[in-house]
Amino acid sequence: MRLSALLGMSSLTAAPTALADGEVNIYSYRQPDLIKPVLDAFTKETGIKTNVLFLDKGLVERIQAEGANSPADVIMTVDIARLMEAKDGGVTQPVTDNETINKDVPANFRDPQGEWFGLTTRGRVVYASKERVSEDAITYEELADPKWKGKICIRDGQHSYNIGLFASMIAAHGEDYTEKWLTDLKNNLAHKPSGGDRDQAKAILAGECDIALGNTYYVGLMQTNEKEPEQKDWAAAIKILFPNAADRGTHVNISGMALAKNAPNKDNALKLMEFLASGDAQKIYAEQVYEYPVMPGAEPSDVVKAWGPIKPDTLPLSDIAGNRKKASELVDKVGFNEGPET
Ligand SMILES: [Fe+2]
Repeated sequence: MRLSALLGMSSLTAAPTALADGEVNIYSYRQPDLIKPVLDAFTKETGIKTNVLFLDKGLVERIQAEGANSPADVIMTVDIARLMEAKDGGVTQPVTDNETINKDVPANFRDPQGEWFGLTTRGRVVYASKERVSEDAITYEELADPKWKGKICIRDGQHSYNIGLFASMIAAHGEDYTEKWLTDLKNNLAHKPSGGDRDQAKAILAGECDIALGNTYYVGLMQTNEKEPEQKDWAAAIKILFPNAADRGTHVNISGMALAKNAPNKDNALKLMEFLASGDAQKIYAEQVYEYPVMPGAEPSDVVKAWGPIKPDTLPLSDIAGNRKKASELVDKVGFNEGPET
């Protein structure tokens, strides 16, 4: 089925092709310009045309509403939370025993049932003031140390990026430890959680806090931001510390893909998924979004490499997914978003 017929061309970004050998429809939470280079490479190699429907919300609900007639073939999104939302919402189907994909995507970065696959990772790291923080190593556990009292900034505790990290703390240490850790972290905050990750770097530049938690790719987005060049100053004020580099590794989350439940172009969808999983495609994609390819040994872009090496926590993302609910409950239980007790 033609996506363009259903949706109107204004919402589409269709890769041009002279050798159309069928097509594949992608429902994406990722901006079309971010995935265009890798999709263009796919079309060049296979002659298969790609149609992208970009949604900033309601992707799962939309596919549910379209039901058996949904044109969706492949879903592309970020964060284990959204991949699980697609799986739990019943809009994906398993891709099992696909040796090509399974060889290129390590087992800890894909669903054991094959309902989603990671393509790139992003670390949840510490942004530290270059001026005021002398440490060049840190652990998540140490963020609870009273020496950081009044010095830490963070976004909303219920945001999926933080929930992923807190879920990994539950996996590493259990619920009781994590509750105490969250309480101590909350009491080390400079103020109530607010803003996005980039705002935390801005707050460090402004002297409001010395360290913050943020995702790696935002540093690339700030460092290269020509539209809002002041963001380069925010980035210049911080250094990245990769937590737990000396032990279990830094918490990472993924961006990924899934095969849509009623994919009308299933063969082409699988070709696309195999292509996206390949090391070369991971690199093109990762470069565009300042992330890391999931394939071990595949190098990130020069901008990302300049931050130093990351050692990703090898905890399966499916385990993190399993602890997300508990993590969210703990955030409420300790009153994380109310900020420090005075
Ligand atoms: Fe983000």
